[in-house]
Amino acid sequence: MDSFYINGGNKLFGELEIGTSKNAVLPILAGCILCDKKVILHKFPKYQDTLNMLKILQSIGASCELIDDVAIIDCQSINKCRIETELASKLRSSIFTLGAMLSRFKKAQIAYPGGCAIGARPIDLHIKGLQGLGVKIVDKHGFLYCDGSNMKSGVINLDFPSVGATENLIMTSVFLKGKTKIINCAREPEIVDLVNFLNCLGAKISGAGTSVIEIDGVKNLNGGEYTPISDRIIAGTYIIATCMCGGKITLKNVCVDNISSLLSKLKNNCCKMSIKGAKISLSVDRLPKAISKIETQVFPGFPTDLQPQIVSMLSVARGTSVVVENLFESRFKYVSELKKLGADIIVNGNTAVIKGIPNLYGAQVQSFDLRGGAAMVLAGIVAKGYTIVRDVNHIDRGYFCIEDDLKKLGVDIERIKEV
Ligand code: UD1
Repeated sequence: MDSFYINGGNKLFGELEIGTSKNAVLPILAGCILCDKKVILHKFPKYQDTLNMLKILQSIGASCELIDDVAIIDCQSINKCRIETELASKLRSSIFTLGAMLSRFKKAQIAYPGGCAIGARPIDLHIKGLQGLGVKIVDKHGFLYCDGSNMKSGVINLDFPSVGATENLIMTSVFLKGKTKIINCAREPEIVDLVNFLNCLGAKISGAGTSVIEIDGVKNLNGGEYTPISDRIIAGTYIIATCMCGGKITLKNVCVDNISSLLSKLKNNCCKMSIKGAKISLSVDRLPKAISKIETQVFPGFPTDLQPQIVSMLSVARGTSVVVENLFESRFKYVSELKKLGADIIVNGNTAVIKGIPNLYGAQVQSFDLRGGAAMVLAGIVAKGYTIVRDVNHIDRGYFCIEDDLKKLGVDIERIKEV
């Protein structure tokens, strides 16, 4: 596992282009399984999770080629419908291949998925939804054995608007004769992107971005080319970093509407913002102020994937803030590390009370998961003195060389490879 050595205290200046969304690309890659022709994905991001998803596709016989930032995926040659434990356990999104394999081949076997350790993360909603479409599922020795030979379209009512379950069920339904309706589905922008991608290949899906999605079954999909949306969490991370450190940055290729819950919390706080199309400029010349309450919610609410980063910012804000985590039960693990830098935070259940202090001070800390790790980096770049963040490979799952982006903005940060 690698470490970051950060000499904190610099303000951030400069311009960055935001890369493609991890959470959009992962289901889209699974969606490629639906199609027996070539799919070309532009601006393909080389995050650890997206690279692992390519390996999953290759493991079942797909051909995946990366030429610079263009991914050429050909799923015509898929010759098995089984994802082994070694690959499935590398990321939560391996579960998306389930719906896609069932859809095209009417059968699938998959080991239980992995992912960041931020809570129990069950897959009961995926399973219940698939069963509602007629899939027979046997859960044995850490594998799900799925038989879709009697699948048919229908109405699925999700007990909770799960992002992954919504995406899985959309993919399962693409070829089902008639109309499938998913009620109380998630509305995240990455779902809209998946649907735009599938529709661009010839699927007939409507309602993405609302709580009811309808899928009219089609016979097959064509190949095609697609450019997925930019990553709202990475954009949010750099915006928060600038609010913590001060300075002036411009981010290009930002889907501004997708981060409006963050921008509205930062409005009238410490920054001047100007937005022109997909470009956002931020100028910060004072310390951030406390935010009385932030609660993570499903989209369009405040994203849980920005919760650790905003807590990091609030630890150096003027005043006391309260942050409530409503999505994942173990998402405050990083707080113990933040405290090593001096942060004054009390966590009680799903609520963190953060008393802002003028300065954090460098120390050695651990990264436990992707977003918590990013929060530690932000704390390190604002802290006085040296911070060492250990196990930063967790961060590589969803940021491509975060240290290079931060260096471009003037941060003194180095990656040290450790054995
Ligand atoms: C996706 C995102 C992740 C983000 C999360 C919430 C991807 C690849 N990942 O994860 O970055 O943090 O949305 O915005 O897009 N749940 C169940 N049973 C299920 C499924 C989910 O109880 O079958 C629970 C989860 O434990 C969690 C909540 O529902 O408490 C939300 O999970 P979900 O929306 O499914 O998140 P993911 O798709 O895993």
